[in-house]
Amino acid sequence: MDIKDLSILISEEEVEKRIREIGAQISRDYEGKSVHMVGILKGSIFYMVELSKYITCPVTMDFMSISSYGGGTESSGVVRLIKDLDEPIEGRDVLVVEDIIDSGRSLSYLLSLLVKRNPGSLKLTTLLDKPDRRVVKDVNVDYVGFVIPDEFVLGYGLDLDQAYRNLPYVGYFKKEVLNS
Ligand code: IMP
Ligand code: MG
Repeated sequence: MDIKDLSILISEEEVEKRIREIGAQISRDYEGKSVHMVGILKGSIFYMVELSKYITCPVTMDFMSISSYGGGTESSGVVRLIKDLDEPIEGRDVLVVEDIIDSGRSLSYLLSLLVKRNPGSLKLTTLLDKPDRRVVKDVNVDYVGFVIPDEFVLGYGLDLDQAYRNLPYVGYFKKEVLNS
């Protein structure tokens, strides 16, 4: 697969404009509070860093890592915790930051884990949402960047076998290219 075959789904300008809007909304919603951002490694880091710049309330950050993809473009369906948070979240206003919600399995697993730790509040944001692929239906996302069609997307943190995360836009290989 060659980068020249990649089609752009969301341009760098569009992504950044939308992130600024979400940052402004979060700043309003959390006024007078602190936001404890919990990023899900590694895909969410680009979105998390960019979003944090536009949140005007005090921000702290922590990270965790889970795995659902063995490799390739299909989830294995089995979610594992690879790295836990460094700090307790009890009483804190937690904002989970994801790159994309696909089947919803990762988030559902994660939320069940975090809820048990008694955060003051627990909200979710994702840069991308692929609702057509949802298997776990009861995940409620508070701030969605873009609802996208059922394509395997890359860039702005999203990878194909660990590559392409650094692209400053969101793109995809058309099915003909992926299968060639
Ligand atoms: P879920 O558990 O099926 O919702 O999958 C969530 C995780 O799968 C995301 O955090 C991504 O790491 C990965 N993923 C899902 N869809 C895509 C995609 O289109 N491109 C790249 N990674 C994806
Ligand atoms: Mg991934």
